[in-house]
Amino acid sequence: MSDPSLYGNSFADVYDEWYGDVSDVQATVDVMTELASGGGVLELGVGTGRLAIPLAATGTPVTGVDSSSAMLKQLAANDHGRIVAAVEANMAELSMEPQYNAVFVAYNTIFNLTTIEEQQACFASVATALLPGGHFAVEAFVPDLSASTPDRAVTPTSLMGESAVLTATIRDRQAQSVTGQHIELRQDGTVKLRPWKIRYASPEQLDAMAMAAGFSLVDRWDGWSRAPFSDESPRHVTIYRLNRSDSQQRTAGTTSCTSTSP
Ligand SMILES: C[S@@+](CC[C@H](N)C(=O)[O-])C[C@H]1O[C@@H](n2cnc3c(N)ncnc32)[C@H](O)[C@@H]1O
Repeated sequence: MSDPSLYGNSFADVYDEWYGDVSDVQATVDVMTELASGGGVLELGVGTGRLAIPLAATGTPVTGVDSSSAMLKQLAANDHGRIVAAVEANMAELSMEPQYNAVFVAYNTIFNLTTIEEQQACFASVATALLPGGHFAVEAFVPDLSASTPDRAVTPTSLMGESAVLTATIRDRQAQSVTGQHIELRQDGTVKLRPWKIRYASPEQLDAMAMAAGFSLVDRWDGWSRAPFSDESPRHVTIYRLNRSDSQQRTAGTTSCTSTSP
């Protein structure tokens, strides 16, 4: 089982500073506005609102789910106009009526679910939350499966300012998991550990989970700006469409959701 609060507890205090520019916000907003076609959008793993707030600012109704109260606290601090409806919940256990035209999960967040069962349950949950014909956009890296890539590594992530950040990782190829620590060494002599864990999946494995949940593959790009995907692409943005029109056929988990803003 994943610890659904692990990532948020580790990174909420530095997320905006470290990851504020990590992907193309405007291109993401453009794609999701188009998929919403005037209806509502749900973001899984909304975090501090890096994407959800600019999307909601276009007039698209946006709900953001996150399992970390620390992340949602930061979202509330950033969302001055209270334009994103925040829901504290595990994205593998959503229980929502069909109500959204589009759902998205950005920047590898699907891999925060660390078992295949949880990832499958997430696709099934999204199928219950979407209106018939709705779209699910998934952004994730393409796993590097080459045998020459070391399974254990320590990488300097940031050596600027008053601290150094080293990222230590151990990969389990069988489990498709990477366990990591961002190790922050500070000038005052203290050390801050920021642990995380992911289960990666190839685009084809994500497609299989999507098909099993009733989706069809519509598009796959190299990124939100819709450049063509190729064998060399390090990441992908994939658009799935929900096939089934009868939402009653779908099943979902049972965890209830607590809305913390509008
Ligand atoms: C990499 S951050 C992405 C935040 C935001 N989507 C962005 O692109 O800036 C991943 C987010 O997913 C949340 N998260 C991790 N596991 C989750 C789960 N099981 N259910 C809901 N949210 C989860 C974390 O708390 C964190 O806010």
